[in-house]
Amino acid sequence: MNDVPAPSKRRTRSGARLLLGGACALAITVSSMAVATLAHADLSGPPGTTLKAAAERSGRYFGTAMGADRLNDSGFLNIANREFDMMTAVNEMKPDATEPNPGQFDFRRGDAIYDWATQHGMRFRGHTLAWHAQQPKFWAGLSGSALRSAMISHINGVMAHYKGKFAYWDVVNEAYAENGSRRSSNLQSTGNDWIEVAFRTARAADPSVKLCYNDYNIENWTYGKTQGVYNLIKDFKARGVPVDCVGLQTHFTGGSSLPGNFQQTLSSFAALGVDVALTEADVTNASTSQYQGLTQACMNVPRCVGITTWGIRDSDSWRGNENPLLFDRNSNPKPAYTSVLNALNAASTTVPGTTTPPPTTPPTTPPTTPPTTPPTTPPTTPPTTPPTTPPPTGQPGGCTAAYRMVSMWNGGFQGELTVTNGTTAISGWTVQLTLAGGQTIANVWNGSNTGNSGAVSIRNAAYNGALGANASTTLGFLVNGSSNTAPSNISCTPA
Ligand code: XIL
Repeated sequence: MNDVPAPSKRRTRSGARLLLGGACALAITVSSMAVATLAHADLSGPPGTTLKAAAERSGRYFGTAMGADRLNDSGFLNIANREFDMMTAVNEMKPDATEPNPGQFDFRRGDAIYDWATQHGMRFRGHTLAWHAQQPKFWAGLSGSALRSAMISHINGVMAHYKGKFAYWDVVNEAYAENGSRRSSNLQSTGNDWIEVAFRTARAADPSVKLCYNDYNIENWTYGKTQGVYNLIKDFKARGVPVDCVGLQTHFTGGSSLPGNFQQTLSSFAALGVDVALTEADVTNASTSQYQGLTQACMNVPRCVGITTWGIRDSDSWRGNENPLLFDRNSNPKPAYTSVLNALNAASTTVPGTTTPPPTTPPTTPPTTPPTTPPTTPPTTPPTTPPTTPPPTGQPGGCTAAYRMVSMWNGGFQGELTVTNGTTAISGWTVQLTLAGGQTIANVWNGSNTGNSGAVSIRNAAYNGALGANASTTLGFLVNGSSNTAPSNISCTPA
């Protein structure tokens, strides 16, 4: 079939090798910045004039990928900052980069990319934890249960470092063969359950991030590999193995092209109850019709949450000789850029959970007194909005937690808790709260929850537990449920 690249054409590892040379130059640490929040969909707004603005109209993102070498490339950074709101590291978070020696992790280059992206308002896709390629050298000497343990330790080590920070993680990459059976690899040889174990490990390591299976040549619905991956996700969903998303790499390069049934593939995966995303898009010679078609397919599927192109300019591409990206080598947008922008702006579906009705009460400002006639009698009803005074500073050895609703929509809301310490420094905290009946926590960031309905406790993340005297930190969460009733019985305990 014509959309299957010859395997020999698929990849070169030279890029990864070149990047290793710059590793020691960077010693920037991950900031404790909160995960950037997703803009709310509003299809009635004006058309976006950048890729990210156009994507955000429908609650989607438009992402790109960068290597650490691009951190010194102002041409790249200018376009990234202007056009994109999601970032992926090209090679810097792969297993060989993050764990060069057993138990010895190196996050310097990954952190530098993460820091730049989040300081410029982007969210982050982690890529990737378990893969047959770009493995640590020491994995080559392992097999069976020793390799299985190394994979589990790797997932735990990397995910602990980025806990609470990413929107998505590609937990497993490219585990299927073209005919829809498992690809043979050292990881596959540890037992058929390796993918399941990777996802269960990942969920326990960071319950706040969406966990994705990512692969190429799964865009054509009738292709064997697509069906193999579809059956994996269907089985995981049926058995409760945690998987939240499928990444379709969408490399329409190396001999592949946009199949006519791409939208059917996206909607079929989405119907299993997962998000879908186009994670590494590039198209031979940046065909405008294929870029338009792949974008429109995503826009037509509510759970298609976003598109990432694998680089910005043709000079950034791993397949640069095919000139497959949206910007040319002089940083000028190509005709395909316009076709993508128009298709994003033409979206008629929004991502579930991203539409917010206009607030009925001002969320933060206390009610003002009537502007014209002074009241003849003092007001009798107390204000309906909760007081917005900052939470009181706590007692010695204690902490307090104050709740605020950030936004709500039909079927859920986003809440925020500000944890404020007392007058004695603490090294950790736990917030207790009770959700109203029928409410379920879908996601927590800057903390990790035990329980997701009724009585719930939320513990600090690794990076925000230590609070000095009177210091405060915030955590966020999403709740699904028919009511927007605020949590009750909120308390905080130092730990
Ligand atoms: C590629 C990088 O772009 C190259 O720099 C590197 O030499 C090889 O890997 N599928 C994936 C990506 O999931 O990680 C690959 O990235 C491209 C194919």
